[in-house]
Amino acid sequence: MIITKGKTKVIKLGPTEGTVLLETEDVLTGGDAAKQETITGIGVHKTTQAANVFSLLNKRGIPTAFIERASANALLCHQCEMLPLELVIRRYAWGSYLLRHPDLKKEGGSPHRFDDLVWEIFHKQSVVSLPISDIPYQIDEGEARERFLSNGIWQEGVYTDPYILIEGNRWLLYSPKKEVSKTESLMSIEPLLSPDEIDEVINSIMLPTFLALEDAWLNIITSHGPVALVDLKVEVGRRLSDNKIVLADVIDNDSWRIWPGADPSKQLDKQCFREGHPLSQVAEKYALVAELTERFVLDKG
Ligand SMILES: Nc1ncnc2c1ncn2[C@@H]1O[C@H](COP(=O)(O)OP(=O)(O)O)[C@@H](O)[C@H]1O
Ligand SMILES: [Mg+2]
Repeated sequence: MIITKGKTKVIKLGPTEGTVLLETEDVLTGGDAAKQETITGIGVHKTTQAANVFSLLNKRGIPTAFIERASANALLCHQCEMLPLELVIRRYAWGSYLLRHPDLKKEGGSPHRFDDLVWEIFHKQSVVSLPISDIPYQIDEGEARERFLSNGIWQEGVYTDPYILIEGNRWLLYSPKKEVSKTESLMSIEPLLSPDEIDEVINSIMLPTFLALEDAWLNIITSHGPVALVDLKVEVGRRLSDNKIVLADVIDNDSWRIWPGADPSKQLDKQCFREGHPLSQVAEKYALVAELTERFVLDKG
């Protein structure tokens, strides 16, 4: 029985109570799904990547929803009530971070490296704040896309993945593409997590997940050098069986930036798809990354 269908996955009820099957389709999306392509075989590569990543994270004791790989393109997971948040962890300042912090853009394009990891939280629901109406509101991204995206261009006043600033007992939503200190918040919402839960999410899930994967990638030496994990997007949910907040959804080659030798021009992640490289090249990178992640789960001897 299908529970939900997202942009790239179908979620079905699993074989035992409290479990689900995450089936990954042969689809990549980019630019808030303004761009969408079918690439044969990519679903299996993404499933391999996610299974290897979550096997490693389970082994490191990080609380996750992952149980096991169920088939070529499916993962068996604990069913979760997902939180509509995108949690981002960064070792280097890159991508949209530079829109929020243009001061970290460096001459020559070399990335700024953070000694201490940076974390950020974004809301998965879009904010609609149209110039003609004065009350901003939140809607699902899919609905926002249907109503406000045409020919790959968003109507003015629609903000996907707004940045969340935690301020006391309110969460303030901001444009993710502007310097937060120089703009007004779009709207404020009730917190989705208590302060203790935020602390747990950051310190028991986000940071340890990044550190485990950063270490795993640095142990993979390519001809350009070790692979740098630049940034990472994860999602969390409450496991239905015990209500515990765990790392859920998937982590695959769509979820991070990975740069052999810390060189952005050598990127192995989904960025090549966003930039419009030939789909055959994109598929090759996904296959290579799937193969490289096999080393995450070999016992170190
Ligand atoms: N363990 C889980 N239990 C329940 N739902 C999940 C779990 N992992 C992921 N999901 C949900 O599966 C849905 C489909 O995934 P996806 O295709 O990536 O959708 P989206 O378009 O939201 O990115 C998402 O809404 C996600 O929250
Ligand atoms: Mg998704």
